[in-house]
Amino acid sequence: MLVDDAPRVACVTPARRVAGRQITTATGLNPTEQQRWSEAFLACGATQCGFCTPGIVCRFVGHERRGVDLSDRTTVDKALAAHLCRCTGWQTIREAAVHAAAPPADVPERDPEAAARRASIETGGPQQSVSASVLGGLDFGADGAPAGTLTAVVGPAGNWFAAETLTQARRQAGKVQGRRSTLEPVPPIEVPEPPAGEEWDVRLATCWTEPGYLESDAAWCAPGGEPSDPLANGGAFGGKVSSPVQDEARQLAAEIGQPVRALWSREDAVRRGPKRAPLAAGLRADGTGIIRIARTPGAADILRAVLPAATIEEVEVPGPATSTELRAAVWAEANMLAEALNRLRTGESLDTSSNTATVEITSPEGATAQATVGPAGIEVRVEAGDPLDAVTLRSYIIGATHMAWSWVTSESLSVDAEGEVQDLTIRSFGIARSADTPNIEVTIEPSQEIPVPAGEAVFAAVAAATWLSAGAPPQLPTGRAALASPGDG
Ligand code: FES
Repeated sequence: MLVDDAPRVACVTPARRVAGRQITTATGLNPTEQQRWSEAFLACGATQCGFCTPGIVCRFVGHERRGVDLSDRTTVDKALAAHLCRCTGWQTIREAAVHAAAPPADVPERDPEAAARRASIETGGPQQSVSASVLGGLDFGADGAPAGTLTAVVGPAGNWFAAETLTQARRQAGKVQGRRSTLEPVPPIEVPEPPAGEEWDVRLATCWTEPGYLESDAAWCAPGGEPSDPLANGGAFGGKVSSPVQDEARQLAAEIGQPVRALWSREDAVRRGPKRAPLAAGLRADGTGIIRIARTPGAADILRAVLPAATIEEVEVPGPATSTELRAAVWAEANMLAEALNRLRTGESLDTSSNTATVEITSPEGATAQATVGPAGIEVRVEAGDPLDAVTLRSYIIGATHMAWSWVTSESLSVDAEGEVQDLTIRSFGIARSADTPNIEVTIEPSQEIPVPAGEAVFAAVAAATWLSAGAPPQLPTGRAALASPGDG
């Protein structure tokens, strides 16, 4: 929002601090600003779920009104430092800033239905790419709830508390604001010991990480009705597939006899939402060896399909729930290991002196992604059937690229030995900021085939290329020391 024309982050600004000041949200920007910024974000594919977008637009407009040059990357990176976009990978947002500053005379015509279809294929849920999504006009999970709907939140013991306002419900539940820990994240599973006198050729141990989707889980339901969809405008990339908020809203509405919205706070989403299953692998070049993975339905089968010679051991790891529904979860890790083994089999060393690696992966759905990661940035070439709308597909490719690069290089979640999550704020998860993210070059192969989702193949190829470009170190996150300098390209 703008407070007397200065951009401020609404979610951490108490109302009492702005008493008597003029507040402007995206819907209050003047019509020319609204139109120019909507067109720019849509033309560049700079909005997906749309949860972060109105805030970013307000920030840009606030800068623009003060005459700040938004065509400069460093300025835009700085402007984005107080924001988080989990979907787009930042680059298209930077492009939108340039576009809005000097709108091109010729913007190619696009088919909004084709764009929405591609977006739905990528997110597995309904998705709209209309100007309302830029300015915050679309409904999210519980936005359509009628006046008088009760709000329910979950307490520390897992039971729900419903009240007329969120503040009352939180008070009844005894909710405490989340904190950021100072615990160093450590992989929860150790790489298995090799037999005496032997060394593994490939080792990899992953940490707990947080999906970090922006709109935390929410649904509302009238008594006897159907609950709203927490996937309302996409986002989450598998993180909300098994969310309990719909059932909770339905049950509470039936019990109380009034419409109820069930909300997870950020802390709830971090504590209770599913994570990628941590694993630790020690493998020989012939593919034999041991992979230990946190017990997760379906995980062992995914590993066996990609790495048939390895022995898979499922282990109990104290910590949050795990799921294979998250973007390329387990499958990307398995392909990273398989790519390292492929290199060893052809006599290549995993110590890369060029800091560059290229990996090509085809997903079970039939999308192929080739990723090259190196000091000059990231290049991704994708074939995912008929693109339907190239701007939208490119946006999801860049988003998946950022998500994979960020995961491999910097993301982690502190979980203590008892399995309690210690990092509870969105800033704690190590998600790469705009300033940290290398340039991403995308090529989309033309195709008339049935359109298939590109995200999983892109995520796996970029993750593998990023890890291999750093010399396949035995632990994630790798850090970024061996990679491109921030802002290169
Ligand atoms: Fe930015 Fe989804 S579009 S968080």
